[in-house]
Amino acid sequence: MLPIPTYRPRRLRLTAGIQRMVRETTLTPADFIYPLFVRHGRDERRPIASMPGVHQFTVDHLAAEAREIAGLGIPAVILFGIPAAKDSLGSDNYDPSGIVPQAIKAIKDAAPGLLVVSDLCFCEYTDHGHCGIVNMPGHNHYTPSLPQGYLLNDPTLELLGRAAVVHAEAGADIIAPSGMIDGMVAAIRAALDGAHLEHVPIMSYAVKYASGFYGPFRDAAESPPQFGDRSQYQMDPANRREALREAGLDVAEGADILMVKPALPYLDILSAVAATFHLPAAAYQVSGEYAMLHAAAANGWLDLRRCALESLTAIKRAGADMIVTYFAKDAARWLEEGR
Ligand code: PBG
Repeated sequence: MLPIPTYRPRRLRLTAGIQRMVRETTLTPADFIYPLFVRHGRDERRPIASMPGVHQFTVDHLAAEAREIAGLGIPAVILFGIPAAKDSLGSDNYDPSGIVPQAIKAIKDAAPGLLVVSDLCFCEYTDHGHCGIVNMPGHNHYTPSLPQGYLLNDPTLELLGRAAVVHAEAGADIIAPSGMIDGMVAAIRAALDGAHLEHVPIMSYAVKYASGFYGPFRDAAESPPQFGDRSQYQMDPANRREALREAGLDVAEGADILMVKPALPYLDILSAVAATFHLPAAAYQVSGEYAMLHAAAANGWLDLRRCALESLTAIKRAGADMIVTYFAKDAARWLEEGR
C-alpha cells in the first residue's frame, strides 16, 4: 500500500463557491473586441453563411449595432470595409469618403465611448486580393528586376501610411495594420505623427500566420487572393523563434499593442510573446475557429456556449489582455447570465 497523500488538491474543487475563490482567470466583456464588416448600400444586413450570427452591415445599420455592443460592456469594435470597387492600388482604403471613414463616423456618433479599431490592410481593396501593391507588368511601380507577383514592400508602406492617416482623421481610436508588411509599424507611426496624430496607438498584427483558419473571413470580407497565397508575407505555422523576431521588430518600430493570430492553435506563441515583451498582448480568435465550433454545435457534437467560453478562457490564460472574437456579443451575454 502506498502512503495516502496528505495534500489533496480536490479539496479546492468541491463546490462552485470554493472554485470561484481560487479561479486564476476570469473572462469579462471588457476583454473583447468585436469585428464588424461594413459595405456600401442601404438597409442591408447580409448574413455570412460560414459564420452563423455574423453579418455585413451597411452604414445605416451601424448606429443600432454600436449601441448594442456598447450596452453589453464590450469596449471596442474592429472594422473591416468592403469597398464598392477594387483596383490595383486599393484606393478606396485611403479615400476620405470611403467606406471605413463613413463607418467610423457613424459608430462614433451613435456610441462615442465605443473604441473603433481600424484594421488596416489592402486585401479587401485590391482587385487581386493581395495585401499591398503587387509587381505586375503594366501596373504601378512595376520593377522588372523583382519577381512577378512579388508584394512590393516599400510602395505598399507609403499607401499604408496614407490610409492610416485617413482612418485616424475620420476618428479611428486605434490603427491595426494586419498585412505583415516589413516596416509597417514604423511607416504608419511616422505618417500619423507627421499628420499630428501622435495620440493614436498602433495595435500591430505582429505575428500573423499563413493560416487555413481564415477561410470564412475571406467570404465575409470578399478578399480571397485571386492568385497565389499569402505565404510570402504571412508566417509559416511551423515557426516559433521567428514570431519573437517579428514581435521584437514591431516593438522597436513603436507598436503599442502586439497581436497574435490565429489564437487557439497558437497559444504557445501567444504565451511567449506576452511573456517576452512588456506590452499589452491581443489575440485574434479567427473566423475558422468560430466556424468550427458552430459547425460542431449545429451537429450536436459540442456545446457551443461551453466550448466557446472555454476557448476564450484558454486564450486569456495563455496571456491575452484582449481578444478579437466573433463570439464577443454572445459571450458577453453568457457571462452576464452566469453571474
Ligand atoms: C486581412 C485580414 C485577414 C483576417 C483579418 N485581417 C485575412 C487574411 O489575412 O487572409 C482574418 C480574420 C479571420 O479569419 O477572422 N488583412
